[in-house]
Amino acid sequence: SEATPEIKKGLVGVYADVSTVSKVMPETNSLTYRGYAVQDLCENCSFEEVAYLLWNGELPNRDQLAEFKAAEAAEREISPALHRVIKDFPASAHPMDAIRTAVSFMGMEDPESADVSEAATRRKAVRLLAKIPTAIAAAHRASKGLDPVAPDPSHSFGENFFNLVFGKVPQPEVLKAFDVSLILYAEHTFNASTYTARLVTSTGADIHGAITAGIAALKGPLHGGANEAVMHMLKEVGGPEKAEEWLSTRFDHKALVMGFGHRVYKSGDSRVPTMTKYAERMAEVVGDRRWMETSRVLAAKMLKEKNIHPNLDFPAGPAYYLMGFDIPLFTPIFVASRITGWAAHVIEQAADNRLIRPLSHYTGPEQRPVPPMDQR
Ligand code: SDX
Repeated sequence: SEATPEIKKGLVGVYADVSTVSKVMPETNSLTYRGYAVQDLCENCSFEEVAYLLWNGELPNRDQLAEFKAAEAAEREISPALHRVIKDFPASAHPMDAIRTAVSFMGMEDPESADVSEAATRRKAVRLLAKIPTAIAAAHRASKGLDPVAPDPSHSFGENFFNLVFGKVPQPEVLKAFDVSLILYAEHTFNASTYTARLVTSTGADIHGAITAGIAALKGPLHGGANEAVMHMLKEVGGPEKAEEWLSTRFDHKALVMGFGHRVYKSGDSRVPTMTKYAERMAEVVGDRRWMETSRVLAAKMLKEKNIHPNLDFPAGPAYYLMGFDIPLFTPIFVASRITGWAAHVIEQAADNRLIRPLSHYTGPEQRPVPPMDQR
């Protein structure tokens, strides 16, 4: 029999390509986008500036930013046809399935649908960035029997998102915390959804197909779906005083604790301290400390007993809850942000493409004849 080749299950430790978009440095728990530390971007830039940076390699000057924001704001409307389709989605549909379907539909309607040139892909990326919040909010409101709110082009990206969901814009501290979360979620090297988008792109398919597939990958609870799972978990724990015992029971069952662990970071996720700081601020603004206190007890015990650190989804879950979002909207918010990183990788993949096609080592039955029907 053949020798078994070395299998890298889960592609652990495999460098699949080069990239200039971002760099994760697990030895120092740090992350840069196009060379800028993510914490530095959070304190000094808006999400729109970071989106521009990811797509163009450099931060925008004042004029470039104004032009970029105007282009995004001008593309926020979704078509009457898409509004009709969204109204027909089952009210029970998960918002991630809704936005996955809406993005796929947008691909069919896009005026440059078949054009996979870099210039067309960049224009389509702006349209996706602009329209994704409109579709997420329309589907969410439709599921509650509410009419959609029209996008207001004078709003920033963050203001627009809140207005589309709630019909109003919150106070500046809330907007800042939301913007920080979008910046932290924007990009993270070859994670599962980004690699999915690159794989689809490697076949020569268009960006809407790549992003539809990326959204499908992000939904899973081992990936983006964890931010929702974290909040369900915090509610189930039932308060800081019950957290230690709750976690001991999880350990007894060898169950996963959502929002902990990471494939690349083993001594702490670069994004957690910043997101925790802003989640704490949300707790102050709202005057509800129990979620962050429960989180603190869980994180301390996970570290002490398992030596496992939280990932970004751990503080992002309660932060979004404190901002007033329904839990099933948490991963769609991740989509509204990660479209920037996904599109940067789609453009990078297409610019220097080779079909992604690994091998499998066959371990099934030896070759055998097909038996006639009455002998099976
Ligand atoms: C994201 O890659 C990215 O960049 C993703 C992301 C991004 O920005 O795109 O950062 C976003 O997806 C964050 C991850 C969100 N997922 C979760 O929070 C789900 C819970 N986490 C785990 O399932 C896990 O840690 C993963 C999926 C995140 C990583 O899986 P790995 O790399 O395959 O690690 P593993 O499952 O092999 O874990 C190693 C050990 C195991 O124990 P042993 O078998 O060695 O004894 O650590 C244990 C695991 O059981 N472990 C956990 C745990 N995470 C790891 N034990 C309990 N709870 C956990 N959460």
